[in-house]
Amino acid sequence: MKGLGVAIIGSGSAVPTQILTNQDLSRLVETSDEWIESRTGMKKRHLSTGESLSQLAARAAIEALTMASLVPMEIDLLVLATSTPDDLFGSACQVQQLIGATRAVAFDLTAACSGFVFALVTVSQFIRQGVYKNVLVIGADVLSRWVDWGDRTTCVLFADGAGAVVCQASSTEDRLLGFEMCSDGSQNGSLNLAYQGISKNLLDNLTVTTGTYQTISMKGKEVYRFAIEKVPEVIEKALYRANLNTADIDWLILHQANQRIIDAIAERLEIPREKVISNIAKYGNTSAASIPLALDEAVRQGKISPRDTIAVSGFGAGLTWGAAIFQWF
Ligand code: UT7
Repeated sequence: MKGLGVAIIGSGSAVPTQILTNQDLSRLVETSDEWIESRTGMKKRHLSTGESLSQLAARAAIEALTMASLVPMEIDLLVLATSTPDDLFGSACQVQQLIGATRAVAFDLTAACSGFVFALVTVSQFIRQGVYKNVLVIGADVLSRWVDWGDRTTCVLFADGAGAVVCQASSTEDRLLGFEMCSDGSQNGSLNLAYQGISKNLLDNLTVTTGTYQTISMKGKEVYRFAIEKVPEVIEKALYRANLNTADIDWLILHQANQRIIDAIAERLEIPREKVISNIAKYGNTSAASIPLALDEAVRQGKISPRDTIAVSGFGAGLTWGAAIFQWF
């Protein structure tokens, strides 16, 4: 079974039905449609009312399975990239149960907005080793749960959604052409969702801390600078490993954090605008979901054709960043 390649054979996505526009946000905090659109490229975003993270992820997964012409029972491994699970112990098993992938081993992977890329690379190692054949990779987040809805510097950015791909072992070719992943914990304070415990005395000389998580906190300018500097580098490294250069990229799909970031990175890499996929105007920043959501939309719109070379790159909290180069099936 050794020496297998990875093929991505299906994609799917899901967003909640409820929509929050820039105008709506201007009724919540001191902001304007003009500010949000000119600074971020966002016009609206989808927010979950009651749909859980697991339900959103399951909807995206079912779509991806349908495109891949597989039934849930054929899935061997399910990895859910999320920072907003329904259950702190993980939500992948709930997704496994919801879609009926009863044979699959399922676990969560947390790498914030880099989660989808990190999950794709992780599952590829199992596939290449011949351990698992059919694998679901899901990126899903319900960031609306953790946003401070009174903080205009963050609440206009984040939203909810899910995207998924099906990866399959191939004995004939390897369509994951190259990847690179990076982390820098020294910049953790630039973007986080920290736990804050309160000291609680249980017995004499026995204390624990109990509490909950805070809301998303971000130093926007720092993260902006980090993304523009590091993302072109990591894409170039992944291209180098793939023995390709930027001219070989048919489509660039970046984490949808800010249209200005997307434009600046594409410009640095000298990738023309028509090769850059963006749907940030409609969905905002959906964290781990943003790349598979943009990928799936472009596939369903017929933009992406068989054998097109796609560069994806995620970046965000951790800080983490990574890129993968693959060919569509
Ligand atoms: O997904 C994880 C990765 N995340 C990112 O990559 C996000 C990276 N950062 C960004 O995208 C941008 O830094 C932001 C969109 C968050 C902010 O854009 P900016 O151009 O860096 O604005 P800024 O933070 O420098 O703020 C400019 C001004 C400030 O006012 P003063 O100090 O110039 O008077 C802010 O107080 O805009 C003000 N401001 C707002 N005004 C209206 C900040 N947020 C808002 C708002 N509406 N929502």
